[in-house]
Parts: sequence; structure tokens; C-alpha cells
Amino acid sequence: MKYAVRYYTKTGNTKRLAEAIANVAGVEALPISEPITEQVDILFLGNSYYAFSIDPEVKSFIGGLDKNLVGKIINFGSAAMLNSTYKKVKAEADKVGIAMDDREFHCKGEFKGLHKGRPNADDVNAAAEFAKKIIGQ
Ligand SMILES: Cc1cc2nc3c(=O)[nH]c(=O)nc-3n(C[C@H](O)[C@H](O)[C@H](O)COP(=O)(O)O)c2cc1C
Repeated sequence: MKYAVRYYTKTGNTKRLAEAIANVAGVEALPISEPITEQVDILFLGNSYYAFSIDPEVKSFIGGLDKNLVGKIINFGSAAMLNSTYKKVKAEADKVGIAMDDREFHCKGEFKGLHKGRPNADDVNAAAEFAKKIIGQ
């Protein structure tokens, strides 16, 4: 199986989760400015809520994906209040005909003094454990 990890971050939280997942998958965690140019079975896609939606850059990254190169997307991220960006990401993935795995990783993310320090070490470990389950380690 081939894996890729891409993330979008404004304050660094998603990058920390992405690095934990990429470490398990044996690939580099890269920002979404780096396109997917080779076939992968699973694209782990890290993203978050900003003003109740995913960032437009995440939408255009998904819109630019080649369905012949990406088997499926696995969503991961954190947010301060909302629970999951899954539906927002799936709406974009549906437009390009790329499947979304039902499984995802989500935890709290620090924002303006709320959830200080999160994702913390436990969250990062949980993200790595999630990736291990997916990958079958
Ligand atoms: C500009 C901005 C807007 C945000 N809006 C929301 C929001 O609408 N709902 C929410 O649950 N969290 C919101 N958050 C919190 C982020 O989702 C949370 O801090 C997340 O961990 C950020 O990930 P990042 O550091 O990778 O950008 C917002 C954060 C920022 C910086």
C-alpha cells in the first residue's frame, strides 16, 4: 500500500498530527501546496475548521486531485468547538469522485485560550495509534 500525508494549517496544530501520522506511514508530512503526483492508495488529509468551514485552499486542493492517483481519502484534524470536518471534506471529494474512508481522527485544537496545549502529547499518540490501525501495524 502506498500512502501520502498532506495538511493545511494556520497555527501549527494540524501539522503536529500530520507528522505523527506520516511517521507511522513512513512518508513525509507535506503541506497541501505539494500536489499528489504519484499514485497512492490512501491520502491522509489534515484540515480544520475556520469560521465554521474548511479553508478555501483545502477545497481547491481536493478539487485538483486526480481520482486516478488517489484511492481514498482519510480525514484527520482538530478544532476548538466543532467535531469534524468530515462532511465538508466529503462534499469536495464527491465532486472529484474520490472515496472517503468512514474512519477519521479528530481531537480538540487550541484556539484563543480554549483547549490550551492541544493537540497535546496524548492527542499526537492517539493520531499515531489511529494510523497504525489503518495501516495494520
Ligand atoms: C481563524 C480561525 C477560525 C476558527 N474558527 C473555528 C470554528 O469556526 N470552529 C471551531 O471549532 N474551531 C475554529 N477554530 C479553531 C481551529 O479549528 C483550531 O484551533 C485548530 O486546531 C487549528 O488547526 P491549525 O493550527 O492546524 O490551523 C478557528 C481557528 C482560527 C485560527
